[in-house]
Amino acid sequence: MKILMVCLGNICRSPLAHGILEREIQMQNLDWEVDSAGTSGWHEGELPDQRSIEVAKENGLDITNQRSRAFTKKDFKDFDLIVVMDSSNFSNVKSLADNEAEEAKIKLLLNYSYPGENRAVPDPYYHGGFPKVYSMIEDAVLNLIKHHV
Ligand code: 4NP
Repeated sequence: MKILMVCLGNICRSPLAHGILEREIQMQNLDWEVDSAGTSGWHEGELPDQRSIEVAKENGLDITNQRSRAFTKKDFKDFDLIVVMDSSNFSNVKSLADNEAEEAKIKLLLNYSYPGENRAVPDPYYHGGFPKVYSMIEDAVLNLIKHHV
């Protein structure tokens, strides 16, 4: 299984989802791969936001190997699941899909914790709340693994 975590900037939320899933893949010995991307290319090549680096570090996770990149149409070919953080990521990604099979790969992360509720991981870039965002993402990633393993 190849999973792509997607948010707007690929510097705050999706790098946390990427790092948390990467750790679980290793710890649970899963034959999975994970990467992350942003629907905007605004932070192309940048490290994750310092606040995401910090909250990850507080949870024993190093995400400083990651660099931001933009989501592209090719990602629909390369990944089995495209996991987005909010409804705006969902519509931005969906607008690049070529067919229903590609659209069906797009999932809202928090639906793994709250099925059918279409909840968003709030964007912490302007208003903070990184510890809360970390725990929401961690819960949902663990539920995603249970769902697909
Ligand atoms: P992310 O957060 O989508 O979780 O990476 C954001 C990062 C950057 C911006 C917005 C949200 N920005 O406006 O540059």
